[in-house]
Amino acid sequence: MRAVLMGPPSAGKGTQAARLGTELKVPHISTGDMFRAAIAAGTELGRQARGFMEAGKLVPDEVTMGIVRERLAYEDAQSGFVLDGFPRTIPQAEGLSKILASQGVKLDAVVLIDVPEDELIRRATGRRICQECGRVYHVEWNPPPGDACECGGALVQRKDDSPETVTERLATYRAQTEPLRDYYSVEGSLAVVDGMGDPDEVHRRIVRVLGRCS
Ligand code: AP5
Ligand code: MG
Repeated sequence: MRAVLMGPPSAGKGTQAARLGTELKVPHISTGDMFRAAIAAGTELGRQARGFMEAGKLVPDEVTMGIVRERLAYEDAQSGFVLDGFPRTIPQAEGLSKILASQGVKLDAVVLIDVPEDELIRRATGRRICQECGRVYHVEWNPPPGDACECGGALVQRKDDSPETVTERLATYRAQTEPLRDYYSVEGSLAVVDGMGDPDEVHRRIVRVLGRCS
């Protein structure tokens, strides 16, 4: 299965893509996670991405395409993948289809997780992440066992989850990523899934949609 999970900031892409990747035994590839790892490691890629991310803007297409091209060439991505947060612009979508065409394959499904804006803000501002294992919690809907993660790691808030930056990320999404809705609708590969309700419920909806695509 070669699937893309799209959706606005904090729609639940990471939560759903991680679970799908495990169930389908394909890698979960998140460009946001790759950029955050590069920032934490202090690499040149991290240096290039940091300012854009902290401002709620997109990292330039050529930088993003470079890391995705490299990642999709790994052995583990040859039989499938779940992409999370990529593509996010029309040039990225075109770049992805070129990469896949060069491998003689194409996307099976593009799933857009649809969540109303007030809920997105609640999900982003309530998110907490374990600094050790990366586990994602929500203070209200998926609370950690105490002040720390189950693994004992410290919980932190993502820098771009402040209300101001979330508003900026939403504006970026509307301007640059929402046009992909029409792009993939025309291609016939888009399925819109209601992202409200608990994560198990959303997961079941996505699995149902993917079942029709495989
Ligand atoms: P990225 O990391 O992709 O951020 P995002 O798209 O803004 O999405 P999030 O990771 O915030 O949310 P999510 O949809 O994964 O939701 P999650 O499952 O965590 O990108 C960050 C930045 O990197 C971008 O702003 C940009 O600068 C750069 N970047 C990344 N990709 C790029 C690209 N392709 N091109 C250019 N730049 C790029 O859930 C959120 C919270 O809600 C959690 O607390 C979770 O527990 C909770 N939750 C999840 N599901 C539910 C549910 N059903 N009910 C209640 N709570 C839920
Ligand atoms: Mg995410």
